[in-house]
Amino acid sequence: MNPGSLAVAAWRGCAQTFGRPRLLLPVSTLKVQTCLQSSERVPAARLPYRVKVSSEKRYAWCACGHSQKQPFCDGAHKTKAPSIAPLRFTPEKSKAVMLCACKETKNPPYCDGSHFKVIFQDIKKSVKGIFKS
Ligand code: FES
Repeated sequence: MNPGSLAVAAWRGCAQTFGRPRLLLPVSTLKVQTCLQSSERVPAARLPYRVKVSSEKRYAWCACGHSQKQPFCDGAHKTKAPSIAPLRFTPEKSKAVMLCACKETKNPPYCDGSHFKVIFQDIKKSVKGIFKS
């Protein structure tokens, strides 16, 4: 399953659980985080996290989106998404970085702008829903 269809599947799961998506953007973090019935990757948020990292520390970036300590792993994948392991990394330099929260980046754990695609898909679905009813 490619990342795009994975995001759509996760979104459909949330929409079935919580009703039709609204035009309010970004989607509330609470709503996204409470959609934990999925055993697949879910977006933790629609925008990246700005985090100061140290080159002397090793980090575990949450790849499944279920962690309550975003953008880092809290072990939630063990029960919520056992097939998705966190990405362990040590930054080359100590500096502030943008870590992906939408979980669609092609350059994990760093944001590559893929969240715009996720936001665009949200808008497209919301607009489609308005004109259907
Ligand atoms: S937050 Fe995921 S690519 Fe930007």
